[in-house]
Amino acid sequence: MKIEIVNGPNLNLLGQREPGIYGSESFEVYLKQLRQRYPDVEIGYYQSNVEGELINHLQEVGFTNNPLCDGIVFNAGAYTHPSIALHDCIRSLRVPVIEVHISNVHQREEFRHHSYLSPVCKGVICGFGLDSYRLAIEALL
Ligand code: DQA
Repeated sequence: MKIEIVNGPNLNLLGQREPGIYGSESFEVYLKQLRQRYPDVEIGYYQSNVEGELINHLQEVGFTNNPLCDGIVFNAGAYTHPSIALHDCIRSLRVPVIEVHISNVHQREEFRHHSYLSPVCKGVICGFGLDSYRLAIEALL
């Protein structure tokens, strides 16, 4: 089983960015713990601040006839809310995508309440801090 975690813009700053909302743990440290917790799952990781690079990567791992993973855990960050390009990308993929958010976007500003990704994702997990990623892995397993 291979799962790809993909993080969008500003998520490279986890641990330092708005710790009151996103916590004080870096994603690198969390990822190490995740990999230890699921030794039988190959967990790949990709992060980019650039929308087109995220699309290229999602296509690369999830669109070919022989997808390079069995499922994708995707936190698109702020691109979640306006990106039709990511919507179109996800709907063409051949593997399930779980939309993930660290914060509960529905408790926050109204512009975060709408997601262009939710209708084309298998499911959505938000509001459980970094544990949202683990819950998404559980869902894919
Ligand atoms: C986020 C929520 C988004 O609204 C925000 O732009 C982010 C992070 C989250 O994980 O809670 O960058 O996706």
